[in-house]
Amino acid sequence: MISFITFKELIDNELNKLTFPSKPSNLYDPIKYILSLEAKRMRSIALLLSHNSFNENYENALPAALAIELFHNFTLIHDDIMDKAKLRRGAKTVHEKWDNNIAILSGDTMLVQSYSLLSDLELNIQAKVYKVFSDTATQVCEGQQLDMDFEQIQDLEISEYIEMIQKKTSVLLAASFQIGALIANASIEDSSLMYQFGLNIGIAFQLQDDMLDLYGEQSKFGKKTGGDIISNKKTYLYLKSLFLANSQQEQKLIELFSKPTINEDKKIQEVKNIFDEVGVLDHIKNQINHYHNKAQKNLEDLSITNKNYLIDFAKLLLKREF
Ligand code: IPE
Ligand code: IPE
Ligand code: MG
Ligand code: MG
Ligand code: MG
Repeated sequence: MISFITFKELIDNELNKLTFPSKPSNLYDPIKYILSLEAKRMRSIALLLSHNSFNENYENALPAALAIELFHNFTLIHDDIMDKAKLRRGAKTVHEKWDNNIAILSGDTMLVQSYSLLSDLELNIQAKVYKVFSDTATQVCEGQQLDMDFEQIQDLEISEYIEMIQKKTSVLLAASFQIGALIANASIEDSSLMYQFGLNIGIAFQLQDDMLDLYGEQSKFGKKTGGDIISNKKTYLYLKSLFLANSQQEQKLIELFSKPTINEDKKIQEVKNIFDEVGVLDHIKNQINHYHNKAQKNLEDLSITNKNYLIDFAKLLLKREF
């Protein structure tokens, strides 16, 4: 079994080897830039780990792993425009370093190139992979639109939030595990268990991302602390706090999240005070554990014998600080 670290190095190397034309530099420099920043590569690693569970020759899966990673990086460039984020991976976001139009077009180019990479897969598997990839990409867009719509909505159920993060984040991790299994010719049962495993880790992962957005260390996390509060994101932290709040805290939270932000630091501090008063951190940690446990249960029925590296992958991801 090939280790997580080996796959991480492999992906970093292969991304490094991708060549882009030098002109127009405003199209290709942002692509080179975003790919050069240190990142976890968890989706492409997931794809290779899943593939490696059934087949030793990882090279067959490499084009799909790179495609997933390019697709993910495209979503980040566009997500940062939508979220008006200034910091990504500890560096300027693409639209800050260049501008919105450049970020849109270089993102689009990465999306197209991710599809192009899939044509390097063996012919007998291409159609299946294209289908999963495309259905997943559509769901990511749906999730991203819901995320934006929710900024303007007050009345929201936690179940609606979970549905939204499942689409914007989990399905891509789930599809990574599934595509790895499909390329290795795994059974339908195993491929769909891999998908479910990824889906549950993905939910836990996005819950954790929402937690780190406020409670993480900016220097490690690489994104602006409190960014979600500034954008009025209706995360689990916000929705659960509303549920736990007394009427005074509830009123204050709704008020803070319904007006455009004037003083960013003041708003973040006031919201954080309420989150802390109601003790929401314990609740979100419980939720993360809940989905982590669900993911581990998905592994029980998987037909492979050595599942430790999948268990370790989930653990490592859910211990993350960046
Ligand atoms: C960021 O993804 C977007 C989310 C779904 C939270 P990652 O946290 O995997 O980002 P990188 O690729 O490691 O920078
Ligand atoms: C990102 O969600 C989901 C996608 C990029 C599709 P976030 O907006 O929370 O991701 P970060 O925190 O900016 O990485
Ligand atoms: Mg964002
Ligand atoms: Mg976003
Ligand atoms: Mg986030």
